[in-house]
Amino acid sequence: MFIGGKMRIAVIGSGYVGLVSAACFAEIGHKVISVDNDADKIAHLERGEVPIHEQHLPELIKRHHRKRLHFSTVIADAVRASEAIFITVGTPPSETGEADLSFVEAVASQIASAIDGRKVIIEKSTVPVRTCESLRKTLLLNGAPPDSFFVASNPEFLREGTAVLDFLYPDRIVAGVDDAFSSSLLQKIYAPLTSGSYYCGKNAVAGPDGCALKARLILTNAKSAELIKHASNAFLAMKISFINAVANISEAVGADVTEVCAGVGSDQRVGPRFLNPGIGYGGSCFPKDVRAFHTVATQCGCDFSLLTEVMKINEEQRRRFLQKVRSAVWTLRGKKLAVLGLAFKGGTDDVRESPAIAIIEALTKEGARIIAYDPVAMAKAKGQLAASQVTFASDPYEAATDCDALLILTEWKEFAELDLPRIRGLLKFPIIVDGRNLYEPNRVADAGLVYYSIGRAVAVPLAISSAVRVHPESPLDLVAAMAIRRQAVTAA
Ligand code: UGA
Repeated sequence: MFIGGKMRIAVIGSGYVGLVSAACFAEIGHKVISVDNDADKIAHLERGEVPIHEQHLPELIKRHHRKRLHFSTVIADAVRASEAIFITVGTPPSETGEADLSFVEAVASQIASAIDGRKVIIEKSTVPVRTCESLRKTLLLNGAPPDSFFVASNPEFLREGTAVLDFLYPDRIVAGVDDAFSSSLLQKIYAPLTSGSYYCGKNAVAGPDGCALKARLILTNAKSAELIKHASNAFLAMKISFINAVANISEAVGADVTEVCAGVGSDQRVGPRFLNPGIGYGGSCFPKDVRAFHTVATQCGCDFSLLTEVMKINEEQRRRFLQKVRSAVWTLRGKKLAVLGLAFKGGTDDVRESPAIAIIEALTKEGARIIAYDPVAMAKAKGQLAASQVTFASDPYEAATDCDALLILTEWKEFAELDLPRIRGLLKFPIIVDGRNLYEPNRVADAGLVYYSIGRAVAVPLAISSAVRVHPESPLDLVAAMAIRRQAVTAA
């Protein structure tokens, strides 16, 4: 049916998923039109300005723009020019926890009126099970001739920050199809990855070590594909909440959660990935998708209360971190705290549902002043945080200067490589509270800093622990820190 040659693809919605998918479809040889109704965004893209921080994306857009990749604000033109139309618009949470599908519906009605030949409409946005059915109905209601289109589901599994590599080197590609035409079309679209031919090209983006040389395509029906997406994200969120709960037990009994993770994760049935404890998951996907999947389950008459617990533990994790900060510095009113990290995770400028933002808001509510730094997310964070309580520094060291403590809230690689003795010299009191376990505790203590992390004992410099009896949960640490600060000042 589709033998040889490039496919003509429209990608409707130029957010994270849409833009990455459009650039990657062009990269694997197809002719792509990326559409968005935000004229400003399209104008930026036309000028070669990429609106999101995503590794490899600028180079791919530069490589293919005006050749295999075009931008447009007009859905109808893109639909007429394409045989495959991917819908990648947002599905934000509604008040009730369900995914709000109004953008998908609006796009579908515009697609319907532009259909002029046989098309496959493919949902790529994260949507609840049965959305394909609603999509089909909406297309029919809006005048699409019944024999002119098929609908399919092709969920994405891209992580922000590594989205391009996730697309080009996927663990699996899921194609949810209910007819042979869509099946053949999706197999053809992904053939450069499933045959491995893309990876042989001399300009192919280099993949992560150890990745397979041919991508695996899993063909399912549309409903199964929709469920795979929600179930995958819910499972990963559960893995994070699970390990966070284990971290809390580790702390309570004096075990070390890093050792526990290494032991548990080395069982191949569990695996070591997504077992990093911290301040809870955030971002535009997990919080929304776990809520939406729970709502779907309830609507189907299934009591999926496990997901309620996953969400509860996630919330609790932020509260526990705040308690850790209080136990490190005692009261918060008037305290000046350095915060490293604003993005919901390292490698992205995205601050949507970022635990860092939530924690900063809670700290400022209690009267703390925040000096924040993030390598790329400060511009976006400024839109969310009140300027009266948060100021922004130009690097981690400026942020730390004269602060009562330093908090690490995002797992940026550069935060794991700080000059700790320098940080110690800049802080008013030598205290680090790390919500991402970036350091080996003894290393921080050896640099003269009291180090609080997640699921591990507080690490205290020898000079302090021998001078003062330090109880991990008591504000005595502060007294100890003052003592060491005095020593440092006297020595200087
Ligand atoms: C997630 C999934 O990983 C992707 O497969 C999926 O395609 C995407 O959602 C989506 O549905 O669009 P993403 O939200 O970009 O990707 O970020 P993750 O890397 O999954 O991290 C999510 C959150 O979990 C972050 O706040 C991160 O800090 C936290 N996390 C992750 C942990 O606390 N511990 C871990 O071990 C891993």
